[in-house]
Amino acid sequence: MPNTAIIGAQWGDEGKGKIVDLMTQDADLIVRFQGGNNAGHTLVVNGKKIILHLIPSGILHPGKVCLIGNGVVLDPKVLCEEIDGLTQQGIVITPANFKISKKTHIIMPYHSLLDQVREKSKSGKDKIGTTGRGIGPCYEDKMARIGVRAADFAEPDLLLAKINKALVEKNALLTALYKEKPLYKEKPLDPRQVLETVLPWGERLLPYLTDGSETISQCRAKDGNILFEGAQGVHLDIDHGTYPFVTSSNTISANAACGGGCSPQLLEHILIVVKAYTTRVGSGPFPTEQLNADGEYLQKKGAEFGATTGRKRRCGWLDIPILRESVRLTGANGIALTKADVMGGIKTIKICTGYTYQGETILFPPQEENGLAKVEPIYEELPGWDQDISSCTTWEELPSNARAYIQRIEDLLKTKVEIVSLGPDRNQTIQR
Ligand code: GDP
Ligand code: IMO
Ligand code: MG
Repeated sequence: MPNTAIIGAQWGDEGKGKIVDLMTQDADLIVRFQGGNNAGHTLVVNGKKIILHLIPSGILHPGKVCLIGNGVVLDPKVLCEEIDGLTQQGIVITPANFKISKKTHIIMPYHSLLDQVREKSKSGKDKIGTTGRGIGPCYEDKMARIGVRAADFAEPDLLLAKINKALVEKNALLTALYKEKPLYKEKPLDPRQVLETVLPWGERLLPYLTDGSETISQCRAKDGNILFEGAQGVHLDIDHGTYPFVTSSNTISANAACGGGCSPQLLEHILIVVKAYTTRVGSGPFPTEQLNADGEYLQKKGAEFGATTGRKRRCGWLDIPILRESVRLTGANGIALTKADVMGGIKTIKICTGYTYQGETILFPPQEENGLAKVEPIYEELPGWDQDISSCTTWEELPSNARAYIQRIEDLLKTKVEIVSLGPDRNQTIQR
């Protein structure tokens, strides 16, 4: 297997976790490189479901190493709870198979609080619909060069000094937001208390801390294969997504190198994960959204509830302009197509192949803010299929209409569908 980056091509929840778990069999090192516990990656093995928020989705495979890279933002309490939960289920997690880059930025209690208070203080149409996990405020501090990093847990004095500095700003900001809209319990955060809250979690993580770049380099020196696990999706990318309705990190393949801690030359294969229809959680434009029986059918049959917040996911038809841009931005070599099984039973399937925008036909999303909210999708119709395809194990077994749908996606995107996923379980997969 070439070193591969697995990237969500839509608005997240494409099934990246399942694909990473599946491909881990041929990998040695699995690297998360951005995002934090806003992600929820679901793995199902022999009917048993596990949802991971921070630990890379390769963790179920003995003998493989999982690394949280420097580009991730890490909530130490959430990570400790995730480690405990997996350990209770008999999954072995030790510093030998799980590592965290010393440079990884830490989500502090004031980050999640600020994230939630800010969201609450916004009026309806301005709400981003964040997961409230502190992702944005933590990345803000990283860029403002006042962030806390994992290695700081070994230096409590340095940590306290950083908390002191950060709280001067955060307390003022929280008070200002409170004055605007008194929606939460206002009390200034105390630096010592914050330290006492986070230090025990942080100290538990010290044995796992490492030089992430060195971990990757050592793996390569032994000819090991690396899997880079993206979180969120291309259209939630801070630069290229539907700004401002995006997350606060770069989700595209280019960030696998930067956020993992290695050269971009290591990225030999880019596999984008595409859900056979489109979903989105949170606010923001969604041209092919179906607020009708079709959307409800996909939501119910696809069990489209957020793996992190439990919110209902908005559902609609496949959007090719969105995906064309994802192919262009990621340099995708192949597609893993998920959830085609959910589309069984739909009489006529629609695919959006372009948009009408300001009187013209366009094939890519407009680049100006809110442009995507003003497009009109142009649809092509394909006949559906009735059969349950969730137990098909070969390409030939698929009904011809299902094959035609997949081949149409390949033609429109000029990219091969290498993997067809037909159910949540690891073995409900056709590799072509
Ligand atoms: P991720 O964030 O990209 O890892 O995706 P999530 O785990 O948030 O959401 C994907 C959901 O679809 C999970 O519940 C998976 O178990 C499920 N899933 C993944 N692939 C398939 C598939 O091919 N068919 C069906 N029916 N479910 C799938
Ligand atoms: P995975 O990795 C789907 C969305 C939130 C919100 C926006 C900003 O499971 O695909 P944030 O908390 O990041 O500031 O929220 O991004 N969002 C996701 N949607 N899947 C995810 O991750 C997401 N992570 C963030 O719903 O609209
Ligand atoms: Mg998810």
